[in-house]
Amino acid sequence: MPPKKAKKHTEVAAAGREPTSARSARRVLVVHPARGPEGARSAEARLDEAQGLSHAIDLEIAAARVVTVREPRPATLLGQGKVTELATLCDEQGIGLVVVDAPLTPVQQRNLEMAWSAKVIDRTGLILEIFSARARTREGSLQVEMAALSYQRSRLVRSWTHLERQRGGFGFLGGPGESQIEADRRLIDERLVRLKRELIEVARTRALHRRARQRVPYPVIALVGYTNAGKSTLFNRLTGGAVFADDQLFATLDPTLRSLVLPSGRRCILSDTVGFISDLPTQLVAAFRATLEEVVEADLVIHVRDASHADSDAQAADVHAVLRELGLGSVLDRDLMIEAMNKIDRLDDEARARLRAPTARQPNTVAISAVTGEGCDDLLATIDRRLRNGRTVVDLVLPFDAGQAIHWLYRHGEVMAREDAEDGVRLTVGLDPEDLARFEERWPGGAVSQA
Ligand code: GTP
Repeated sequence: MPPKKAKKHTEVAAAGREPTSARSARRVLVVHPARGPEGARSAEARLDEAQGLSHAIDLEIAAARVVTVREPRPATLLGQGKVTELATLCDEQGIGLVVVDAPLTPVQQRNLEMAWSAKVIDRTGLILEIFSARARTREGSLQVEMAALSYQRSRLVRSWTHLERQRGGFGFLGGPGESQIEADRRLIDERLVRLKRELIEVARTRALHRRARQRVPYPVIALVGYTNAGKSTLFNRLTGGAVFADDQLFATLDPTLRSLVLPSGRRCILSDTVGFISDLPTQLVAAFRATLEEVVEADLVIHVRDASHADSDAQAADVHAVLRELGLGSVLDRDLMIEAMNKIDRLDDEARARLRAPTARQPNTVAISAVTGEGCDDLLATIDRRLRNGRTVVDLVLPFDAGQAIHWLYRHGEVMAREDAEDGVRLTVGLDPEDLARFEERWPGGAVSQA
């Protein structure tokens, strides 16, 4: 660390306090510094969003405050009075981590840590933690790691424990030896060069990954939407009832994938994604896109919207714009998206009736409450209908000795129900039209009726 900076920190440290032993690293104070006019989104809404983000990485929110900053202080961003007031709050509440929902300079971050005897992360650091926990594809992980390293490189007063990526975080939230090893610009640069090379390689082999994914025998439905729109609540509500053997596999590999049985008996995979964030720091845009990569592979996208949010329409426009940029324009154009207007329990009767009224309703818009469950049956029925659009569901009765035909159906279609009846094996199968034609050509005369 350069001597000049070290001196400055010592001065502030003298004014700060020693951490109390009762502090928990996951008990958090969320601070939104409001700097005058906030644009379309109010300071309270932003504080809500920052709380939602903190919640997303399982932090326990002890307190949340909007702090007006008329003149940003170079040393601490916030005014001295506020810094002292919040130090007392941290002390009283056993707070070990403060999330400041704004960009902080390395010096501000360090000074606030000293003053509050707590770890401090800024908005970019928090978002990076979330992305790193959610990045699923190799490409996503690499993009997030590159963003994290560039961020660390820009703040050399920070240090890290090691350069190997840790699942679920980069260590901004602390860890053993956090202050032991100084950040080394050269090491970071070398690592960045290696990551860039690896990223090019991954992009080259992406086609292979695609093929592997296509082997998943069920349609994939991705939930997208703004942070705090209720995606995870809906994910849990829709998939909460039944637990399948392969869910355990998903849960260990990836807690954001779970299977779901639709009213028709059809099985699919529901995928929760990282939420959209207003004013995403520009250096994180590529990383965010990479975490959304699996949406590109989805058969259907559910756009979860907070219908009770004042900015709901502006947020939806943002989501659409990003999906188009991701090359998902066809999802929008081909109606492969369902809009789930969530949180209708928070609307007054009139607004709720307007959303639920059949006349006002678009065929691909469903009004729901993920908390009360209202409208969720409608949503499942709509998913069923959408997925069936491309496929034909047929009921077949096949002789018991038609093992080859049955095997063929399992390989090419989706067997939704099977019953060994007196007259033979009864199957309900979803088939693409071409496969249905091939089946009929190969095994003509099978008792086929379209469901
Ligand atoms: P990120 O993980 O940050 O992207 O957020 P998310 O979209 O997954 O939102 P989450 O499910 O975590 O919900 C955010 C907050 O909204 C939580 O406090 C939920 O309890 C609340 N919430 C979700 N759905 C509803 C709803 O239908 N009604 C009401 N009143 N609150 C809801």
